[in-house]
Amino acid sequence: MYVFINLSHPNPPVFNFLRFERICNKLLRLANINQELSILLVDNTQIKSINNEWFNKNKSTNVISFYHGKNDLLGDIVISLDTALYEAQNANIPFDIRLEELLIHGFTHLMGFDHETEEQIIEMQEKEKKFKYNLNKERIMADLCINIDHIATLRQARKDTQPDPVYAASIVELAGADGIVVHLREDRRHINDRDVRILRETVKTRLNLEMAATEEMLIIAGKIKPDIVTLVPEKRQELTTEGGLDVISNKEQIQNAIKTLNKKKIPVSLFIDPNQKQIEMSKEVGAHCIEIHTGLYAYAFATENEDEEFEKIMEIAAIGKNFGLRVHAGHGLDYRNTQRVSAISDIDEFSIGYAIIARSVFTGLERAVREMLSIVKKGVII
Ligand code: PXP
Repeated sequence: MYVFINLSHPNPPVFNFLRFERICNKLLRLANINQELSILLVDNTQIKSINNEWFNKNKSTNVISFYHGKNDLLGDIVISLDTALYEAQNANIPFDIRLEELLIHGFTHLMGFDHETEEQIIEMQEKEKKFKYNLNKERIMADLCINIDHIATLRQARKDTQPDPVYAASIVELAGADGIVVHLREDRRHINDRDVRILRETVKTRLNLEMAATEEMLIIAGKIKPDIVTLVPEKRQELTTEGGLDVISNKEQIQNAIKTLNKKKIPVSLFIDPNQKQIEMSKEVGAHCIEIHTGLYAYAFATENEDEEFEKIMEIAAIGKNFGLRVHAGHGLDYRNTQRVSAISDIDEFSIGYAIIARSVFTGLERAVREMLSIVKKGVII
């Protein structure tokens, strides 16, 4: 079962190529087809010329299917990206979704369906709906795990015993969050050893321990046994984690840390910038998961650079999924910028802290969590 995608458009609009490729493969699997599928993504001029040559229609269209059926080739689907984009904009839906619809339509033709008569139209639409339903059934909404470090920051402002992050974790879980994240820093500026120890006993969802790949932290993690460790770079002077891990330069240290944690049956996530080389190395060193640093996207939100940073996240998430890694994302996400990234179906989990804790000062923690949940769980669309 192979899919060949030929991107012949000279200047294609941005779309999630890897996701598109995965949908093609899923369609073949859903239809139980063991043949090759060829996809040609073209512009309006090219599809017009194909339409003219094969169907004597001198006009562009959105999709054309050619059934082959013999030997190894099921057929070809030609899609005009120009028309797909125009239709997406007209219908006010994401371009990736319109592409998916056209792909399903072309594929349904290859399955022998047509739309010449009323009866055929109904049958074909039913089949397309079924494909769409089954494709979507495989997608799940991302989890929301909440970083409660800044509850401890407030406590440490007075070096007091409250507010207690252990208490906060219970409220966060009761509000419906999927997990608790804490960063045990070398300088213990917020979360401390006692917090991690008690949280391990009280957290009912999942405990994600963020830490540097140092000997001290590896010993602590080995004793605490969190559900997952996220390795992050750490600088004493920074206000918060400033960038992703450089897995390439620190390959040996990170690989050893992963081995040590794996021996204790602790899966490891690597916090990395949305960079292809870093994700390739993350896979090579044996990470189970990557967490994409969304800081630059968050920073660029509502500026001219937003799209560029968003696309980097979308692309790395798709590569992560294709590598078979679990994909997390976080840093700098808030009540405005989370919605766009929450639509990326390749992201399995969001790790959000500061914005939620900051809002909770005014709304209470439970409400702040529920409001973020309503954004993250709104629905995966791209
Ligand atoms: N993910 C990682 C790896 C982090 O270091 C942090 C910050 O502690 C977060 C997510 C959460 O970022 P924020 O507090 O900006 O939501």
